Amino acid sequence: MKKPLLVAVLILVASGAWPDTGVAQATANDSPSWVGDVAPVMALKCMNCHRPGQIAPMSLLTYEDVRPWASSIRMMVEERIMPPWHADPRYGEFGNDRRLSDAQVQTVLDWVDAGAPRGEGQFTPPEFANATDGFLLTGVLGPPDYVFRMEDGFLVPAGGPDLNLDIMVPTRLDQDIWVQAAEVRGNFNVVHHNVVSIIGPDGEYARTGRLASTVPGKQWDRFPNGSGKLIEAGSTLRFGMHYHPSNEATVDTSSVAVWLVRDQITHELHSSVVADPGLQIPPYESDYLSQGEFVFETDAAITLFKPHMHYRGTDMLYRVTYPDGRTETLLSVPNYDMNWQISYEFAEPVPVPRGTKLEVIAHFDNSPENPWNPDPSVQVLWGSDSRDEMMEGWFDYQVELEEPILPDHVRGTPQVP
Ligand code: HEC
Repeated sequence: MKKPLLVAVLILVASGAWPDTGVAQATANDSPSWVGDVAPVMALKCMNCHRPGQIAPMSLLTYEDVRPWASSIRMMVEERIMPPWHADPRYGEFGNDRRLSDAQVQTVLDWVDAGAPRGEGQFTPPEFANATDGFLLTGVLGPPDYVFRMEDGFLVPAGGPDLNLDIMVPTRLDQDIWVQAAEVRGNFNVVHHNVVSIIGPDGEYARTGRLASTVPGKQWDRFPNGSGKLIEAGSTLRFGMHYHPSNEATVDTSSVAVWLVRDQITHELHSSVVADPGLQIPPYESDYLSQGEFVFETDAAITLFKPHMHYRGTDMLYRVTYPDGRTETLLSVPNYDMNWQISYEFAEPVPVPRGTKLEVIAHFDNSPENPWNPDPSVQVLWGSDSRDEMMEGWFDYQVELEEPILPDHVRGTPQVP
């Protein structure tokens, strides 16, 4: 089909009969354009963070926004620094994987190399880019069902030491709700982190415990279909705030948005950790090994992993050994970066029959070659200060309930506004 057409074109060109517009068309098609090729990729992979009010330093919504950054974008994309994602692609399939495909990387490189042309026509940023509530998940799931906000702003004074305090936020819920996803936001000029816990109507720390949290680089908490976190009617949320004052006095009014489950609950969620609190990293040691393990006592399915170390952490690997002796690597993070606390959410929960062993294997670099190392000359022990170390392989898993639960709000009971 194609061949005869090509011959015809060649003849036309050779005879000088190619119309001007046709030639322009042909070159435009060779190199990618912002409108036709690059913007759609950025809508999927960049705009969630690179838009006004989000964590990234600049917006990448429009051609005018993007053009001045073209060469920086080229470098970041080629080196795969952006979008941030540190899992070795050989292992695991993750629902929140934001890597670009090789073809998408090539498109961006070709586009910059061609002078970053705009191209004809218009590109309309996706709906979520206009969301004014500031929640990233609005871009994925639509507007939240509830937003629970601190009732009064908290004035964070200028300068001074970090502040840790609990702020109680009543939910005023008069029915139980089951949460599928939650996202914590605040004034990120001063909020270093915020761990939101559920205090039940009896005033006790609820069995669900932690609802969601924000730490630098984290986006949201999302629970797999068929599971969720219960907030009972009359519960209060405890915002465990850690403020890092800026140069100016600043008000923070943190909030947590929740999206409700849309189906029955068939699984209970658990969060656990493999840690090595006994670690002792000698001075100048460049490849210190730290490891730990966990054995599943019931049939379960792993839903996410979240590696946590500090400045000297270099890599972390999660490996399971099934009861039949088979071994499988489920996540490898070969270049850990403490600035990004990424949760790796499995596209499908990974079944682990009772008796499966989970091993977490990590390395630390306390040598002067590690550019982040605050002091290679000291022995490093466990501690929450970033100059100390932590080896924590967090993981969530789900266990099937004996009886499924059908939440009232799924049954169609009217919701509280
Ligand atoms: C998860 C959120 C997130 C995503 C997704 C993301 N970025 Fe970023 N980006 C950031 C943050 C935060 C920074 C600032 C990093 C820093 O200061 O270390 C940044 C920095 C950058 C920079 C460097 C800016 C400078 O100051 O030099 C470029 C270029 C960039 N991003 C391009 C992209 C592109 C292109 C994509 C999509 C292919 C993308 N980013 C996806 C959060 C994100």
